[in-house]
Amino acid sequence: MDFQKIEKAASFLKEKYPQQLKMGLILGSGLGILADEIEEAVKIPYNEIPDFPVSTVEGHAGQLVFGLLNGVQVVAMQGRFHYYEGYSFDKVTFPVRVMKALGIEQLIVTNAAGGVNESFSPGDLMLISDHINNMGSNPLIGPNDAQLGVRFPDMSEAYSAEYRKIAKVIAAKLGLNVQEGVYVGNTGPTYETPAEIRMLRHLGGDAVGMSTVPEVIVARHAGMKILGISCISNMAAGILDQPLNHEEVIETTERVKADFLSYVKALVKELGTK
Ligand code: HPA
Repeated sequence: MDFQKIEKAASFLKEKYPQQLKMGLILGSGLGILADEIEEAVKIPYNEIPDFPVSTVEGHAGQLVFGLLNGVQVVAMQGRFHYYEGYSFDKVTFPVRVMKALGIEQLIVTNAAGGVNESFSPGDLMLISDHINNMGSNPLIGPNDAQLGVRFPDMSEAYSAEYRKIAKVIAAKLGLNVQEGVYVGNTGPTYETPAEIRMLRHLGGDAVGMSTVPEVIVARHAGMKILGISCISNMAAGILDQPLNHEEVIETTERVKADFLSYVKALVKELGTK
């Protein structure tokens, strides 16, 4: 990871949006609409930012949105980079490094995920309590730059217990029934086989997706505090007698949009006071 490149992208962005930021948001498939709620928004397409990768998947607009969300200074990634698109882990996690260089210490990561836990239903929201890196590698492999973090980062509380506790209180206030569980990060782009899903369930996974794990590893390396939310967009392979498709993922996230938006907005307001 090139410190100069991080600094260059960050100073470019600071010039466009000089206000001190409080929080970063990474918005997953179908969840980018949250960025449309940001007020006094300054939108910067990825392709204008020095050394930023450019995203390719449908449903990912590909821009940073700066502004006020429920009174809190945020920057949202409307569209993220996936390993399966062919980006290196360095590219996938570059935006997190840049957020840190912009002074951000709090990160909310969201994604669409398949439900592995059979008690879940499509449309459920799940607070991520922990993850399993099943991507076969780690974004921190290579020489460690001590300016960015320690060689052997602790991952025993990757997803802040304090933030999860707050998130449960807010869910109760809003009357939302929110699940909690372990997110398994796979590379994709294939969905899993039924046998893989049975294996992941035995290993302690509750939801499965193709993102989030690299970003969270790098955010922890950078010392950020993280809240993760999965939108269970479908039941994982083999649970229901039906094939999986990307349209279903998008349809479900569309259906729970209103709950997701009000939940994350309330979370931003509350965590913004921390
Ligand atoms: N598997 C992997 N990634 C996903 C899924 C799934 O079932 N649903 C949404 N993203």
